[in-house]
Amino acid sequence: MGSDPTITTLAALRDAEAACTRCPLYANATHVVPGEGPARARLMLVGEQPGDQEDLAGRPFVGPAGKVLDRAILDAGIDRRTVFVTNAVKHFKWEPRGKRRLHKKPNAHEIERCRWWNDIERALVRPQLVVALGATAAASLLGRSVTIGRVRGERLTGRDGEPVVVTVHPSYLLRLRDKADKEREYARFVADLKACATLVR
Ligand code: URA
Repeated sequence: MGSDPTITTLAALRDAEAACTRCPLYANATHVVPGEGPARARLMLVGEQPGDQEDLAGRPFVGPAGKVLDRAILDAGIDRRTVFVTNAVKHFKWEPRGKRRLHKKPNAHEIERCRWWNDIERALVRPQLVVALGATAAASLLGRSVTIGRVRGERLTGRDGEPVVVTVHPSYLLRLRDKADKEREYARFVADLKACATLVR
């Protein structure tokens, strides 16, 4: 597990993350986006990386995927204020497309370099369960790539021995076009989160 004995609080972690140059992604980002939530959250949700709106706000899951996540957390009967929400990669990776900034998937090197920060987040918060939202978070936590459909909902063990459950990323739900598919997949996502809530005391 990555560790830095000088970082003993989430505030100190945020300051350290703001100065991060561990991979090249900091150079094109507006803000680093640290995790957010109670220092003793039982449940930690890990996304992929900040999107356009998160990069501008410096806060995780405040854009469209965040709206879906907020609603699903609520529908799962979980109090959002009790959950620590963060990302596997803390800077927005993008490429220009006209006036827009198009999301680009972080590569294995960027995921690996950024794991340092989530390691510290987990060491400080000590969640009882870490939920990987999508393949990037799963790769970061498990140290291997997995097919979401094969491991979804199983109680797995992360690289540092922490319990990890993998589910889909909320942006997957946003990409579905068919209304029935969208509703079914949203209900599955809510059921996954509900099951995760039962694993923490
Ligand atoms: N997608 C993510 O994975 N994280 C965010 O913070 C926003 C969108």
